[in-house]
Amino acid sequence: MSTAGKPRVAVTRRIYPSLIEELKSVYALDDNQGDRLLPPEELARRLAAADGALTFATDRIDEAVLAAAAKLKVVANVAVGFNNFDLAACTRHGVLATNTPEVLNESVADHALALLLAAARRLGESERWLRAGHWKRWEFDQFAGADLHGRTLGIIGFGRIGRAIARRAAGFSMRVIYADTARLPADVEAGAQWVGKEELLRQADHVVVMVPYLPSTHHLIGAAELALMKPTAVLVNLARGGVVDDAALVRALRDGRLAAAGLDVFENEPQLNPGFLELENVVMTPHIASSTQATREAMARLAMRNLADALAGRRPPCLLNPDAWDRRRQ
Ligand code: GLV
Repeated sequence: MSTAGKPRVAVTRRIYPSLIEELKSVYALDDNQGDRLLPPEELARRLAAADGALTFATDRIDEAVLAAAAKLKVVANVAVGFNNFDLAACTRHGVLATNTPEVLNESVADHALALLLAAARRLGESERWLRAGHWKRWEFDQFAGADLHGRTLGIIGFGRIGRAIARRAAGFSMRVIYADTARLPADVEAGAQWVGKEELLRQADHVVVMVPYLPSTHHLIGAAELALMKPTAVLVNLARGGVVDDAALVRALRDGRLAAAGLDVFENEPQLNPGFLELENVVMTPHIASSTQATREAMARLAMRNLADALAGRRPPCLLNPDAWDRRRQ
């Protein structure tokens, strides 16, 4: 198929083949469909030749990449988080930056409950024990865990995903308290109670962290915050590595100052703090909270819509840097 006259689009990571076929019918595609992560120089080289790009949380889009990409009009992240973008640099260069909000809310909230239940009811630990052939007889107090029902769930970050988690917690007969930068209108709170972060950490039986990663949320949960939590509590982090101080969390879990943790994201992932691997009371998944077949497809399709709109001169639905619109590249 001829690519003459078609906009050139880079796809930096593997996505479903059917989506690649769709993209190929519209664009001259530079797709990286192996399992290889593009090193920064290669990412910059590929984007330098592109009109638009589908990017992922693993791609750092910074000044160096943007300065070399004279024709680039849009970077469409296949993720709701966008801490891999230097947004101010995108705006300076007139490059539209987009993300994929909403379509992943319910899948991520499901995963939050999966991690909370798994950590509270000691699923990983008891299954490892069973598989290792240790189960000789039933015991009255075997793997006694923590309840969810009737307990208080503290949600730090009561945005779209935080509220989807709260809806599920209501189904578990949990009381929900939340901390956020401001109190939300009563109809949005839907019965949840706004409290300060410290009050939340003291009151909650279990805590879920669901805030964006920003300079202001770096180590939002560190040693001081963990010390406020109940020693019977479970902490769940599905936000971003760096929001929780992993070294402090390892110490709290090791010293019994916290019952358990459920983690989908880590500082310096995919490298893990080795302390986690020595602990039984932590359940870990490899940054897959939005990874269901349907949700990943919906995320990719929303990113494709953002890309298509931007390349056609239309304002994309999930524009992150509206200030770039007036200086966008034609
Ligand atoms: C996943 O972490 C996302 O930001 O979508």
